[in-house]
Order: sequence, then structure tokens, then C-alpha cells
Amino acid sequence: MTTAIDFDRIDARGPAALASLLRRMPKAELHVHVEGTLEPELIFRLAERNRVPLAYPGVEALRAAYAFTDLQSFLDVYYAGAGVLRHEADFFDMAWAYFERAAADNVVHAEVFFDPQTHTERGVPIEAVIVGLHHACQRAHQEFGLSAKLILCFLRHLSEDAAFATLEQALPYRDHFIGVGLDSSERGHPPEKFARVFARARELGLHVVAHAGEEGPPAYIRGALVVLRVERIDHGVRCVEDPALVERLARERVPLTVCPLSNVKLCVFPSLERHNLPALLDAGLVATVNSDDPAYFGGYVNDNFVQTFAALPQLGARHAWQLAANSFEASFAPEADKRRWAAELDRVFAAEP
Ligand code: ADE
Ligand code: ZN
Repeated sequence: MTTAIDFDRIDARGPAALASLLRRMPKAELHVHVEGTLEPELIFRLAERNRVPLAYPGVEALRAAYAFTDLQSFLDVYYAGAGVLRHEADFFDMAWAYFERAAADNVVHAEVFFDPQTHTERGVPIEAVIVGLHHACQRAHQEFGLSAKLILCFLRHLSEDAAFATLEQALPYRDHFIGVGLDSSERGHPPEKFARVFARARELGLHVVAHAGEEGPPAYIRGALVVLRVERIDHGVRCVEDPALVERLARERVPLTVCPLSNVKLCVFPSLERHNLPALLDAGLVATVNSDDPAYFGGYVNDNFVQTFAALPQLGARHAWQLAANSFEASFAPEADKRRWAAELDRVFAAEP
């Protein structure tokens, strides 16, 4: 219901007013890795608390290492950073710090990825991971009214057998996560490698999503759709190389969780000015804006919105509204919640002077 919203009038007020609206509008975040929210300050605090040696003398030296050339160069640093997480309280503290930031960005619903194998491979019990994160989700709901859900990701550079073992280990905590995803090094690890474990996850009634078309080709997006039968594609920006695929994604309303700052930091696009978000929206895709690994990529979800709109002046108030509306549609939240958030979104836009 957008009849009461005058998008042209909002645009006429200029970029600062639009940036303010981008920050204030309610939104869902659907693509954020909780290990990617681990800020350098918290890495150092946890390293000290858990007596884990770090390869960097201080926060500034660590931050200076955040110069990535591709996905793998980032993942190497990201997995090393996660090495300071040892106990349930560490997982709670990390997730809680994210939820405080998300609430400040007017995120009303977050579906948060976590990578259990990154921790269980180091001897951390999966219970510490899931229970710590779950308690932070509960507190986010109590304190901020932010509905927070977890999605368990399999690391695609490991085997499908390892993914099966992880799913089995997680089943005692089945109520604490709503779905499974697929992340880590994309090239050379096509979705088909995980066909059986995704079929099992679907049988268990879990939602299914997968990273595809970030660095990998459009064929990986097709594989995720056809073989894994995913409900959303994480990133998916390379779909534009296959017009028939774009047409299918639009027709079937398969959402893409796009992460602009991530894409620039990992050299998927040379700059925000060259990002294809406007083309994805023009093609009628259910695109959303998300932060991916905000502690590593220079910003949380509102930074992604504000910087992307500043770099792409063809994006205006209608696109802002559409992206927030898409985030609710694309979420796995109950329909009644989606309707409530969508109505609040309309109220915020209609109240603009
Ligand atoms: N794990 C954390 N961030 C990721 C990304 N952008 N792509 C794949 N795996 C990830
Ligand atoms: Zn991601």
C-alpha cells in the first residue's frame, strides 16, 4: 500500500534527507555472518580473556590487514579472527554486540548466519556455539523487540560428509535455528556437492539458502535453485550474466541478499559506483541490502544503504522503500509480522514532510 507515499517529494528534499530516511526506515537483515561482526576490539578482548595469542600487536595493525583481493584472502583473516571464540559467553558477547548495532540501525528482524565447523574443528563444543548465540537472540527480542533467528551454514570447502556430521551434532538444538545455508570458498565448490545434505535439511523442515554467484558463475545460482532447491540466493549478483536466469529469479520471486560494501571490499565490483544493484531492481528482482561481514567490510546495514545510495544517484526514495519491503517479503518471519513491519515502513515514508 504505497498510495499515500509521495516518493518524488521525498527525492526533491535532497540526498541528506534520503540518507536520514534510509537510516530511520525499518528493515530486515537477512545476510550477516555473526563471525563477521567480530570487531577488532572484541577480538583483542576475547584473546586476552581466553589467552589466545594473536599475530598482530594491536587493533590498528589488525585493521590494517583488512585489505582483501578476493573472497579467499578475506576468509583466511576471518577464520583466524574467529579463533578467539572458545566459550558460550564469547558467542553471546559477539552476537549481543551485533544486535545492539542492528537495533540502532532500525533492524526489526535479523536472520543471522553462523559457521559451526569453524569452531567445532578447533574443539569447541557445538552446544557452546548454538546456546551462546541463542541466548543473545532471546535477549535481543526482550530488550529491543528485534526478532532474531539463526541459520546454520555449512562450509563448502569441506566435504558433504562433514556437513552431515555437523547437521547431526546440531539436531539436539533444532529449535534454536530456522534453516541451513552454504558459505565459504565458492569457486570449485558447486552447490551440487551438497545435494544430499540439503535434501535432509528440507526433510527436517528447515529453510534452505545458499551463497551463489558472488564469485562463482551463474551456473552455481541455477545449481542452488534446481538441486538444493533454495528459497533465497545469498549475493547472486552474477545472475545478470544469464538473462534467462534473471527472468526466472524475477518470475519466481527468489530473493537475492545483496551486500554492496562486501562486493567492493572483495573486488567483485571495482567501486560502489559500478555496483549492479540498480540493474537488479530494474529487472524486478527481489533484491535486499545487507552487511555480510560488517566488522571487516567497513560498515553495518545502514552504512551499506547510505553509501550505496550516495554512490548511485539513480537510486531514490522509491528504491529505498522497495528494498525495505523486499527485506520483509524475503524473510522467513511469520506473515503477521511481515504485514506489521510493512505497515510501519509505509507509515515512516508517508510521514515524511
Ligand atoms: N563467509 C563469510 N562471509 C562470506 C562471504 N562473503 N562469502 C562466502 N562465505 C563467507
Ligand atoms: Zn555471506
